[in-house]
Amino acid sequence: MRTSAAALRLPLKEAYNRTIVSGKTFYLETFGCQMNVHDSEKVIGTLMAQGYAQVPTPEAAGLVLYNTCSISDKAEQKVFNRLQNFKREAGKGKIFGVLGCVAQQEGEKIFERAPHVSLVAGSASYTRLGEMLVQLEAGNRRVTGLSLDTDETFDTPFTRRDNPHRAYITIIEGCDKSCAYCVVPFTRGPERSRTSESVMAEASGLAAQGYAEIQLLGQNVNSYRDPSPAGWDFAALLGRVAGIPGIRRVRYTTSHPRDFVKPIVDAMDENPVLCDHVHLPVQSGSSKVLAAMDRLYTRDEYMRRIEWIKTAKRKYSITTDIIVGFPGETEEDFQKTLDLLDEVEYDSLFSFKYSPRPNTAALEMRDKIAEEEKQRRLVILQEKQRAIQIRRNAELIGEVKEVLVEGRQQALGQWIGRTSDNRTLNFTHPENGGDSLLGKYLPVRVTRSGPNSLVGESVTVV
Ligand code: 5AD
Ligand code: SF4
Repeated sequence: MRTSAAALRLPLKEAYNRTIVSGKTFYLETFGCQMNVHDSEKVIGTLMAQGYAQVPTPEAAGLVLYNTCSISDKAEQKVFNRLQNFKREAGKGKIFGVLGCVAQQEGEKIFERAPHVSLVAGSASYTRLGEMLVQLEAGNRRVTGLSLDTDETFDTPFTRRDNPHRAYITIIEGCDKSCAYCVVPFTRGPERSRTSESVMAEASGLAAQGYAEIQLLGQNVNSYRDPSPAGWDFAALLGRVAGIPGIRRVRYTTSHPRDFVKPIVDAMDENPVLCDHVHLPVQSGSSKVLAAMDRLYTRDEYMRRIEWIKTAKRKYSITTDIIVGFPGETEEDFQKTLDLLDEVEYDSLFSFKYSPRPNTAALEMRDKIAEEEKQRRLVILQEKQRAIQIRRNAELIGEVKEVLVEGRQQALGQWIGRTSDNRTLNFTHPENGGDSLLGKYLPVRVTRSGPNSLVGESVTVV
């Protein structure tokens, strides 16, 4: 039974009522990955519990927050552009705060660069968010949360989930790897796993509210290790979450090939609730570049993991992340990445031009690749992948796949569905309008395909 909407709206209403008395309003914009999106859901819930109401524009808000991403220079610039736009508003009593990865990376330097900012806090300090809000309310205009020295995780009962059908659950925070290009270990702190008890309690609670799809989150979920005596590893946790009555789909992101062990594939094979999809970021097809990146695996070791997935009992889609133009990447190295695309035949990938980040080892590396060359490689990589996706998606025509109905494209007269293998499958259905199908799981026959999505029609029997 789906009770989530009503159950979830109640605390929101209460928060609004309290706000009418307090008059406290906030606006929050989120940049970056799913971890950031979910952190924002927790931050929003915490603010509401302290009597703040969310408003849709920065103009209408007393407190303006940006939850930031620093994966690339471009991502980082976005927040400073936003802050620049609202510089004059600060004099009118509006309070500005920078949260997340740029906050952690730049720290108090943000106060110099944007003097109208009053709060700078990284994700490892969100457990202190309530306390920081109290300081802001007391008139303190230099409030910080920048310590990374923590073994805490940000578990809050106030999470305000955005999607009514699919819920994120953090299982591990931070990262203990030291990939030469990556800012995350500096912005999100050391690895901290939640207890299996609290993960299971959150997942069961969500199932009871009517959520049928769960996405387990962490910078490296594969290194999850239950800190309680039960001591579950990631594969064990997957099996247990998938076994919760009412849970129909479980996804997870993101994996690190070094910690992606065979029992994870075995757990997936055993329980079809665990979705038919593995996201396994490779970054490069050249073992030389992988070593320079300090990725802790070779191309062959990566391919062994791909073999486990390809020879498993079920068919899984495989997706990845690739960086082009890492320092020292020769044309030959780049060719090896292109060969890898042919060998694995990824269902989809995220591609990035290497961006130098503060504090990282790669910053000092020689043989930097020119911007135009990075761009050239990116385009070649993306064109190759597009051709692979066109071919692979066309092979699915005629198949019947179960979708979770996530939305509606009114103009096209189509519903938006997502398959277990993480494809978008838009489809027609006799019920042509309203929102009656949202959140349902339906069988759909694929009739057409494109590089990035499929089109189909609903069928009555799978
Ligand atoms: N430059 C380019 N891409 C990066 N990524 C992480 N750091 C950088 C960087 N400095 C990419 C990686 C990672 C994804 C989330 O972002 O591919 O897997
Ligand atoms: Fe961006 Fe990485 Fe921070 Fe996510 S963890 S917000 S991708 S820098």
